[in-house]
Amino acid sequence: MSQHPVTSREYALELDANDPLAHYREQFVITDPNVCYLDGNSLGRLPKKTVEVVNNYLLNEWGKEVVDGWGHWIDEPLAMGDLLGRSVLGAAAGQVVCSDTTSVNFYQLVGAALRARPGRKTIITDASNFPTDRFILQGYAEQHGYNLVIIDNEDPAISAHERITPELLEKYMSDDVALVTLEVVQYRAGARNDVKAITDLVRKYGALTIWDASHSAGSIDMHFDADGVDLAVGCTYKYCNGGPGAPGYLYVSKRIQKELRVPIQGWFANKNQFEMGPTFEKVEDIRGFQIATPPVLAYRCVKTALEMIEEAQISRMEEKCSTGTQMLIELYDAWLAPLGFTLNTPRDAKERGGHVSLVHPDAKQIAVAMRRMINVIPDYRVPNSIRLAISPLTTSFVEAWDGMERLRDLVSSGRYKEVAMDTSRVS
Ligand SMILES: Cc1ncc(COP(=O)(O)O)c(C=O)c1O
Repeated sequence: MSQHPVTSREYALELDANDPLAHYREQFVITDPNVCYLDGNSLGRLPKKTVEVVNNYLLNEWGKEVVDGWGHWIDEPLAMGDLLGRSVLGAAAGQVVCSDTTSVNFYQLVGAALRARPGRKTIITDASNFPTDRFILQGYAEQHGYNLVIIDNEDPAISAHERITPELLEKYMSDDVALVTLEVVQYRAGARNDVKAITDLVRKYGALTIWDASHSAGSIDMHFDADGVDLAVGCTYKYCNGGPGAPGYLYVSKRIQKELRVPIQGWFANKNQFEMGPTFEKVEDIRGFQIATPPVLAYRCVKTALEMIEEAQISRMEEKCSTGTQMLIELYDAWLAPLGFTLNTPRDAKERGGHVSLVHPDAKQIAVAMRRMINVIPDYRVPNSIRLAISPLTTSFVEAWDGMERLRDLVSSGRYKEVAMDTSRVS
């Protein structure tokens, strides 16, 4: 604990001086040290080593080996999955495939889960779930005649900070439920759901759970195997620093791999893949959850970044997120609450991930002004949230502290109102 008050810059400098992960920051490309990059929950920074590793792959593998490279590239989705499992997800080998997008993986597991619960017609998710998950469920429900139940966790009278508690979920459970799917950490509010308690509850009703770990992978220490998780998906481009559009992943517990069958039966899931036979026969292990030719170049980015996480240890990364988000919340109390912001993230560190969500009626304009006027990169989410993240290997405490001080001055002066609104398609 620091002897300085949180509102003194020395407070953050002292946290940095005692941060066992501080040295990782210099292993990333940071072109402008004056920028406070607080958007690692959207896209992580580039590790310096990735540049070298990708170059080496291009010249010495693709360039030299050409098609012979497939002899050792072909199982990289599984090798990368095992690395993700042990460094980030708390999963033993043979349960994770790293490939495709989170959306495709989600579609695959939704199809597999519903097929494994014939006769049941209800799917449950929440209104604050990430759009791609909700949209895929809507499409699936419409096409295949399922009843999609959406828990209204955007209403604070129903749920605090969008969090889904087992008590709340149980009100919606019945023996018609085939599938419940939620985020481990809510993408907007940053609230963390209790993976084990919810998975146990859903199992009690005979249904399956799919967790979307996109915002929790690399920010909190997860224990998929110990928590009895059935199924999960997520991405590697946020806190895992795998790069823009880096492959996602799916987790299928060994307990249910034989029982499940995904809707897209690609040739990589076929038992005798290179016999090119007339009919599909699913491989019974995790290979049976692949689709097709994997993005080998992208794996080199993912591998470099995940090896850093494995060395840094995910438990220490969670600790840094917890301390950093605590500092952000205390600075919010001191500086931003009096300026009309409200906090939409739990105050208990065990109930949040690596980002905090600050709500303000002018959030959109403030977020644009932060980029243009004060060199702070936040993340804006409709209708009125600014998300600020601690990406544990790259964000320094003083970087986050400076960002909050600049934000305070931007809003208290009213200067943000001078900025013209952004016309970019990306917000
Ligand atoms: C929680 C969550 N799920 C799914 C996605 C979609 O990922 P993709 O575009 O890789 O399919 C995202 C993207 O940010 C996300 O945050």
